[in-house]
Amino acid sequence: MSQKISSDFKLGIIGGGQLGKMLIQAASRWDIATYVLDPDENCSAANLCTKYFKGSFKNYDDVYQFAQEVDLVTFEIEHVNIDALNQLTKEGKIVHPSSKALAIIQDKGLQKEFYARHNFPTAAFKLYETKEEVLKAISANEITYPFVQKSRKEGYDGRGVVVIKSVVENDKIFDTPSVIEEAINVEKELAVIVARNNKNEITSFPTVEMEFSTEANLVEQLVCPSSISNEVEEKAQQIAKKIIAALDMVGILAVELFLTKTGEVIVNEVAPRPHNSGHHTIESCYTSQFEQHLRAILDFPLGSTKLIQPSIMLNILGEADAMGKITYEGINECMRMEGVNLHIYGKRDVKPFRKMGHVTILGENIEAARTKAAQVKKVLKAKSL
Ligand SMILES: Nc1ncnc2c1ncn2[C@@H]1O[C@H](COP(=O)(O)OP(=O)(O)OP(=O)(O)O)[C@@H](O)[C@H]1O
Ligand SMILES: [Mg+2]
Repeated sequence: MSQKISSDFKLGIIGGGQLGKMLIQAASRWDIATYVLDPDENCSAANLCTKYFKGSFKNYDDVYQFAQEVDLVTFEIEHVNIDALNQLTKEGKIVHPSSKALAIIQDKGLQKEFYARHNFPTAAFKLYETKEEVLKAISANEITYPFVQKSRKEGYDGRGVVVIKSVVENDKIFDTPSVIEEAINVEKELAVIVARNNKNEITSFPTVEMEFSTEANLVEQLVCPSSISNEVEEKAQQIAKKIIAALDMVGILAVELFLTKTGEVIVNEVAPRPHNSGHHTIESCYTSQFEQHLRAILDFPLGSTKLIQPSIMLNILGEADAMGKITYEGINECMRMEGVNLHIYGKRDVKPFRKMGHVTILGENIEAARTKAAQVKKVLKAKSL
């Protein structure tokens, strides 16, 4: 189907969380119809899309049937039933990013093997099936402390990842197929979002620096532009561009990297979808990550990724003791501040550290943004009623 704007074209989005919602907001600007599949009829995207379909993205039939309703399938979550996507591809349905790329990325074991095969620098690793195998490998000195264990499938937001520092922490080892990685001495965590379209055009957004909350074990704030040297920036950009080309995929790819204490840039993991580390692009860049994803998958020219203004992105996380119906504190104070952009995802229930929204704070320079971000962090709270 050639015309996608103001036409009968239907974009199918698997997953209706906040990433789906923001993708729909971008599609809506261009008058593109969006169909969404999600198990939860109260999901963030449900009342914004053209048509909502209730169903599980993990279920073969739900994914397969949903795809029959649309002209092109994309997703905002990695945990999609891969057999259904493979079958749809075989039958000629357009799926972007490809099920082939997704199958590699969905399984952290296959993902690490892909890096090894293509000589992308990454933490040394081995794959194990059970906890017993891991314990045996420790006894045989095949694994040494400290190390990181990652469940091969279904992990997100740090769930499914444990750092084991010494023998006393062995009880934290999971009994599931996993990747065991050397623990890296991380100087900074970086992310680069790259995009590729059918014509092999590739663009990348400026590298961002992720600052973590150790308590919640997820990204607390994200800084763009990062404070890294031009040389590190260049390395990060090159790795990201080479990975998307090697995956031969169309769409956007978020590449998470580590800058090590010894100055190396290595890849941690990738996600073939819009990503938390690209939210600032909505206000901070000429083109947002969501629009770039649409441009890539709908076969439009890719947009400029230039930075308009430096920014800090803060996740709005549920308070540590919040459980139940959501209420926000500090909204008025935030709205009084210049360049503070609130995004509320629309989740009705709050849980400790649940991602409820984000704030992008623009500044003339990064210091100005930091000052305002500290203020936002102080006043803005996601609590339960
Ligand atoms: N090899 C490693 N050495 C040191 N720290 C690591 C290593 N691997 C992961 N980490 C830490 O654990 C965090 C989560 O790991 P990873 O990104 O692989 O998991 P995830 O659950 O998919 O994350 P998310 O969904 O938050 O991106 C990383 O951001 C990093 O802080
Ligand atoms: Mg990660």
